[in-house]
Amino acid sequence: MRLLNASGCLDALTAPEVARSLDVFVTKTVTPLPRDGNPPARIAETQGGMLNAIGLANPGIDRFIDTVLPELKRLGVSIWVSVGGFAADDYGRLCDPLDDHAEVEAIELNLSCPNVDETHENAAAIMRTARGSTRKPLYAKLSAAVPDIGELARAVAAAGADGLSLVNTVRGLALDEQTLRPRLERAVGGYSGPALRPIALAAVYACYRATEIPIVGMGGVACGHDALEFIAAGATDVALGTVLFADPDAPARVRSEVAAEAAARGFAAPSDACGIAHLPASTTVGHRDRARSLVV
Ligand SMILES: Cc1cc2nc3c(=O)[nH]c(=O)nc-3n(C[C@H](O)[C@H](O)[C@H](O)COP(=O)(O)O)c2cc1C
Repeated sequence: MRLLNASGCLDALTAPEVARSLDVFVTKTVTPLPRDGNPPARIAETQGGMLNAIGLANPGIDRFIDTVLPELKRLGVSIWVSVGGFAADDYGRLCDPLDDHAEVEAIELNLSCPNVDETHENAAAIMRTARGSTRKPLYAKLSAAVPDIGELARAVAAAGADGLSLVNTVRGLALDEQTLRPRLERAVGGYSGPALRPIALAAVYACYRATEIPIVGMGGVACGHDALEFIAAGATDVALGTVLFADPDAPARVRSEVAAEAAARGFAAPSDACGIAHLPASTTVGHRDRARSLVV
């Protein structure tokens, strides 16, 4: 099990020690052109999590490659670059120049961008375009707010995805207690944090049954037990998002907690619990291959 940050939840250049405490650093989504993002307020704490409407603020792919990537390389951490666009061609234009950079271990395609239609035909078309533009491993970042995430996962896997990142935020709204007006300038934002966890777990569970590609599980992970649940549902790796804003030491803490939680249930390592949620209750020790053989 590797521990990653969720895209957009950690700035490795301002918190290099936090980035180094992860197995992989995932960048904020980079788009073809620079974006200022949305006007403030862009973040609001709310019941069970937080809302954000950052609006994909980023320097654009050219400046990212020229100025940000060299600095990330100097940190000595494994780097995944998250990319997002508004049409399939954008993804090709984003993946192509990253292909030459050995320091980029993988590319995560953010398929939950504003204006991107997350139908499985569209997601597959984006994946095919990206696949034709790079030899890097490609992870498809999906939102759970689709009619059938298993079907979507099958479509992107067939189009060339090497893995899945599950899940992105879901749309939410918080109103000011007094004025009853939206607390975010853009009104609606992406909802993340603890309340997302059961939704994310269900997505991981469904995609584990639908495909055989590795899954990075995320959505409200705050402690080792949460991480172990994602592994049990079928995740290979786990990412920390919202928790990092409150607790930058979460990576080291979650790493030791998940090992202890796994050991307490008789697993030599957290990864040995992979997929166990798919096995009959009478089975106490399993691992991915065994769970897989019963599911597929
Ligand atoms: C402030 C903020 C910014 C985010 N920016 C991005 C982004 O740029 N690209 C992306 O794919 N997901 C982005 N996300 C979603 C997270 O990567 C993650 O999928 C989501 O927050 C669920 O995990 P969590 O509940 O642990 O935070 C962002 C989330 C937050 C809270």
